[in-house]
Amino acid sequence: MTDAATIAVYGTPPAEVVDVPSGATQFSPLMPGASSLEQQSDGSLVAMTMLAPPGTLERRYVIAQALRALAPQAPFTILAPNDRGGTRLRKELQAFGCAIEESARRHHRIVIGTRPEKPAGIADALEQGGPRLIDDLGVWSQPGVFSWDRLDPGTAMLIAHLPPLKGRGADFGCGIGLLAHAALASPEVTEITLVDIDRRAIECAQHNVGDARARFLWADLRSADLTGLDFVVMNAPFHDAGAEDKSLAQQFVTRAAKALGKGGVCFMVANRHLPYEAILKPAFKRAELMIETGGYKIYEAHT
Ligand SMILES: C[S@@+](CC[C@H](N)C(=O)[O-])C[C@H]1O[C@@H](n2cnc3c(N)ncnc32)[C@H](O)[C@@H]1O
Repeated sequence: MTDAATIAVYGTPPAEVVDVPSGATQFSPLMPGASSLEQQSDGSLVAMTMLAPPGTLERRYVIAQALRALAPQAPFTILAPNDRGGTRLRKELQAFGCAIEESARRHHRIVIGTRPEKPAGIADALEQGGPRLIDDLGVWSQPGVFSWDRLDPGTAMLIAHLPPLKGRGADFGCGIGLLAHAALASPEVTEITLVDIDRRAIECAQHNVGDARARFLWADLRSADLTGLDFVVMNAPFHDAGAEDKSLAQQFVTRAAKALGKGGVCFMVANRHLPYEAILKPAFKRAELMIETGGYKIYEAHT
């Protein structure tokens, strides 16, 4: 928990849309090392500027956490792009009992208000957007994490084709830990590091992968220091902050090649439309397409 009287920021509000007070404490779970809103005590924040996330359940959850943690009458500024939840902000804040003013700038809606004495509907929003056991899948998940309430077809395909593994490995961009869980079915795996940039995913993975061989790392893979591995499994992301970013997937591939020792192997699943061959071939000694079906490709690459 951070100190009382904290000025808070959530995410990276564009500087051309709103000013963020200097020295504000970051609370986004997508920024490794940031403070946790969940752990912030009631009424301890003196102000909040939030770039609200696009998913409705996730957005209502973080706004409810912010209203819980703000002191009564403390000011907030909440904004979102028009097409990513912005047009819903006014009604959502009013439903929490907030009197607000709304403005628009550079394709964003901005709502400004103060935390009411008794916000309405907080418990409901926290329950609907909080971590929970997904009965159908038998795993812990949370709105906002990757494919939070359904098994991603690419993930399912890699799990179905994963051969026995051995030694020390990593699950790059582990999400809620499904690939690592599958890798740990191999008795010769001695250790696996699950890395993700999303704290909520790592916390769910800790529930889902109850195995003494698992290590958990809340980090940006692009700066994580992993070396000498025997294997890497991954369903590489190709979105950064919601926008398609092929360079992110490319960086996952080159990081995998660097993290593997000699004779290491990487199994990855990717969307068919992404140009992986061109990145895999120079990064690895040998890279093969194992299977292509249903819009996905699985590659096996060796160092
Ligand atoms: C396509 S999802 C796959 C999740 C999980 N492996 C699965 O198959 O269900 C990619 C994951 O990479 C994570 N991610 C995105 N950028 C990252 C980064 N720079 N460093 C670490 N993880 C990242 C996302 O949070 C997301 O959980």
